[in-house]
Amino acid sequence: MSERSHVLIMDDEKNYLLVLQTLLEDAGYVVTAISDPETALAFLDESEVDVVVTDMKMPKVTGRDVLQRAKKKWIHIPVLIMTAFGSIESAVEVMKHGAFDYITKPFSNDELLLSIHNAVELSRVHRQYRLLQEAMEDRYGVHKIVGRSRAIRDVLVMVDRAAPSRSTVLITGESGTGKELVARAIHYSSHRKDKPFVSVNCMALNAGVLESELFGHEKGSFTGAVAMRRGRFEQADGGTLFLDEIGELTQDLQVKLLRVLQERRFERVGGSEPVDVDIRVVAATNKDIAELVTNGLLRDDLHYRLNVVQIPLPSLRERREDIPSLVAWFVEKVISENSMPSKSFSTEALNYLTGYEWPGNIRQLENVVESCLVLVPGPVISVDDLPPDIRDEEAQFKSAVDLLPVQLDLAGTLEKIEAALIRRALVRAELVQVKAAEYLGISKSLLQYKLKKYGITGH
Ligand SMILES: Nc1ncnc2c1ncn2[C@@H]1O[C@H](COP(=O)(O)OP(=O)(O)OP(=O)(O)O)[C@@H](O)[C@H]1O
Ligand SMILES: [Mg+2]
Repeated sequence: MSERSHVLIMDDEKNYLLVLQTLLEDAGYVVTAISDPETALAFLDESEVDVVVTDMKMPKVTGRDVLQRAKKKWIHIPVLIMTAFGSIESAVEVMKHGAFDYITKPFSNDELLLSIHNAVELSRVHRQYRLLQEAMEDRYGVHKIVGRSRAIRDVLVMVDRAAPSRSTVLITGESGTGKELVARAIHYSSHRKDKPFVSVNCMALNAGVLESELFGHEKGSFTGAVAMRRGRFEQADGGTLFLDEIGELTQDLQVKLLRVLQERRFERVGGSEPVDVDIRVVAATNKDIAELVTNGLLRDDLHYRLNVVQIPLPSLRERREDIPSLVAWFVEKVISENSMPSKSFSTEALNYLTGYEWPGNIRQLENVVESCLVLVPGPVISVDDLPPDIRDEEAQFKSAVDLLPVQLDLAGTLEKIEAALIRRALVRAELVQVKAAEYLGISKSLLQYKLKKYGITGH
């Protein structure tokens, strides 16, 4: 341990206190020894200590009072109670109230050191867990969802409203639109945030394994089940279970999942004892949910259960105005994670990124930004440095033609394309009309005429 642990000891017998202090200091701890219990309680309120060691019987204040006060400050603080021989009963009482251990006087030095060592370890684990928890919250909180477009603001409002309840949430959206990010944001904005967020990808596992993965199994329930194992449902108890790629569940598992959603109860594989869990389920799919139901791939009743609150995520091309801030966010992230010298995209390169179709959505954008940062040696990433499919207007044009409607209505189709190009130019030009007209190679007044014609308001 690099940092020395801080132990607070209180005992009204001064000589005894001095002996303990020397013993603990020799063992490498930082020790605060206080004989007046009230002073000690005040110290406890103001300071961070790792372990508290207190005598049970002191004038005015008892070990029990100390315990309560310490737990109020930090529920996980280990409190070790020293009792005189003969008062075991009250010691048992304090154990019930959450003392870490009690030790009967007179005790050997080794006995005390061992107990303190264990207490310090426990305290350290709790602190590390808390730090990890804070890091997770920081990493996956709602504030990490970048974007100010109308579409993403609607998503954030829904996350905010859905988070506090236990309602099942179904997140839909194309691949790479941020479904998992949103699922985590819901968890870390809910009162379940200190409990686990457990993620299961229904596609990654075959049906046989998935069942025991979800529900766990009893010892001996199948060859290889050498011990009882808790499944993801149990691991997520008190927290959130994220079922990703829900469209991949077999019919058999859909029936079982339906029951858990209804009763919050299930049996482990090979077991008959019901297990109760308190979980919030968030499911996700990149498939068209109505289509899954129509094609019989998702049971109607399960669909109904899952689809209590639906959060549809917009594709990136439906919120192009977020692209510059997403790029900035990924640039900053990659640079700081790799301790790189600072780099940026030229305005023209950024315009290409904003205009691209992004079939792989944000994940693809993130990958493109990262690969440019890594591969381009200079401080500015220009259009020539972009991957060919983004740079190649010809290819963009071809793929756009492939997406055209089958009707051969020339005038109507051309108008649609014209309107789409104007919208794109406006976004690239950050809504500055003169600039958009320049991109399009037309006059400002012609642009204004066309804006009116197509009813484009600038958003
Ligand atoms: N609004 C956003 N702000 C910042 N980063 C985002 C945003 N949306 C998505 N990301 C990032 O994009 C990547 C893809 O997101 P995520 O894995 O949540 O997508 P997904 O919808 O679950 O994709 P798939 O369907 O392929 O599993 C992640 O690295 C995520 O952190
Ligand atoms: Mg995902």
